[in-house]
Amino acid sequence: MLKSFHYFAGAVLALFVFAHLGNHLVGLSGVENHISTMEILRKVYRNAVVEALLILVLVIQVISGLRLALAKRGGVQDKWVLLQIVSGAYLLFFLVVHVSAVMFGRYWLKLDTNAYFAMAGLNTEGYRLFFIPYYLMSVFFFFGHIAAIHRQKMNRAVLGVGVAAQSISIVIFGAFVAVAIIYAMTDGFSTASFPEAYKVLTP
Ligand code: HEM
Repeated sequence: MLKSFHYFAGAVLALFVFAHLGNHLVGLSGVENHISTMEILRKVYRNAVVEALLILVLVIQVISGLRLALAKRGGVQDKWVLLQIVSGAYLLFFLVVHVSAVMFGRYWLKLDTNAYFAMAGLNTEGYRLFFIPYYLMSVFFFFGHIAAIHRQKMNRAVLGVGVAAQSISIVIFGAFVAVAIIYAMTDGFSTASFPEAYKVLTP
């Protein structure tokens, strides 16, 4: 029962996250394109009903994930199960902090929480020591979590590629996506500029 909740809430959440990460990859072609794509996507996920559903599945995901991880404590032998627990624990932390930060920025600071909202932390000396690994790991572990589930649920080779190799490919793909997003948001691993209004987020 708890597992089914976690699985279905996760599938709904993953739909949003794929679109969200796709949006960040568009940033490779410039921040203006990132922002205009986000404005299109927002028409869907900022719809009151869709956003309420998203927050609901997020809460279900975090609570059910926490309970499942606690039930698995101790005696984990399989490295894929370990990856599932470690990535899940990180995503749990990340989702709570990330969504609270976005809501704080939006409702308290009255900022448009677009690409510049993330870029402020990623391009400020000192802060970036936290924000670069924080975002890198979010994307890497998102794919790591999917790879671990794939390893356990999939039972056939595809085009001669075995299940373990499929799962490893998902992990490698996730690492590339993570690095590409940070590359886009830091102006090619240097320091991208962002508008004055977002300096309220930095010292
Ligand atoms: C490099 C990685 C990421 C960056 C830079 C980033 C940035 C952002 C930004 C700027 C927003 C605000 C969007 C808006 O105002 O329309 C946002 C919202 C959000 N992000 Fe991320 N994100 C990242 C990764 C992730 C990941 C991996 C997840 C999930 C596992 C995630 C889940 C969410 C959720 C649930 C929201 C709230 C959507 C809403 O209800 O408005 N993000 N993110």
